[in-house]
Amino acid sequence: MLSDQGLVTNLIKVAPDYYELTFRPPGILKAVPGQFLHLAVTGSHDPLLRRPLSIFDLLEGGKKCRLLFKKSGRGTALLSKFQAGEPLDYIGPLGNGFTIYPGSPWELLVAGGIGVAPLHYLARVLTESGIKIVFLLGAANRKQLLARSSLSSLGVEPLLATDDGSAGYRGTVGELLVDYLEKNPAPDRLYCCGPPSMIEQVINIAARWKIPVQASHEERMACGIGACMGCAFHHPEEDTNPTDYHYYRRLCREGPVISYRHRR
Ligand SMILES: Cc1cc2nc3c(=O)[nH]c(=O)nc-3n(C[C@H](O)[C@H](O)[C@H](O)COP(=O)(O)OP(=O)(O)OC[C@H]3O[C@@H](n4cnc5c(N)ncnc54)[C@H](O)[C@@H]3O)c2cc1C
Ligand code: FES
Repeated sequence: MLSDQGLVTNLIKVAPDYYELTFRPPGILKAVPGQFLHLAVTGSHDPLLRRPLSIFDLLEGGKKCRLLFKKSGRGTALLSKFQAGEPLDYIGPLGNGFTIYPGSPWELLVAGGIGVAPLHYLARVLTESGIKIVFLLGAANRKQLLARSSLSSLGVEPLLATDDGSAGYRGTVGELLVDYLEKNPAPDRLYCCGPPSMIEQVINIAARWKIPVQASHEERMACGIGACMGCAFHHPEEDTNPTDYHYYRRLCREGPVISYRHRR
């Protein structure tokens, strides 16, 4: 698969250690929410491996793409130094993305921390299809509640949770989810993304209400295109067909979105 070269148009710091990068792809970028781009973070071969980032937003019919990322190591630190006018080398969009149900009246989205990135683009696509959204957004503290103004511009006002109680519900977004489900009708499904412990908590809560989940997972990636098996992910669901090469999925190809059925 060939890489493409976009042009960075803007890079801003949106919170301590968090950045938003906007670039123009060479043509029209078409992507399903939940898909990701595999980015070269320098013009050289050091670091050798690309870094995967979710599509945070697509604007102007795919002529403009926004990425939201946390500076968490060497690669994302290099990415945070890009400037307007510089080329951005990427492969993608990659991965499966979320499954959308066009006739659905409403959907429940649950994001933890930087997990808001793919769910923001999902929120755009759903709202533009006339689907109402309940969005639960959690983070360690108020400063790390990302993308709120951008969600607001889509008409989505998230219910908030912070670990330290500096905004919204005091507690995890999983605890906020329990609170929400105890007071409201259960959705037909739930979309989520966040750190592994948060995703696990959300899947367990959803199982109590028998709500199917589509969760976007992260795993360390090398090739990003299904060749190296570096991103093998153990799918724990019991009713997965055992002859289906056991329970492993390549997160870059059969993921990053994994479905959990919890059938009613
Ligand atoms: C499908 C997918 C979508 C993602 N979307 C986003 C996003 O929108 N915003 C965001 O901030 N982060 C996202 N991540 C996580 C992001 O890819 C890592 O934070 C980033 O690769 C870390 O690189 P680094 O060089 O800064 O860190 P380092 O720790 O220095 O990286 C060293 C190596 O480990 C790998 N690595 C480290 N942490 C992760 C991780 N959590 N997931 C995958 N690989 C990792 C790197 O690719 C690199 O090869 C996503 C990950 C995946 C798999
Ligand atoms: S990263 Fe190589 S197979 Fe997924």
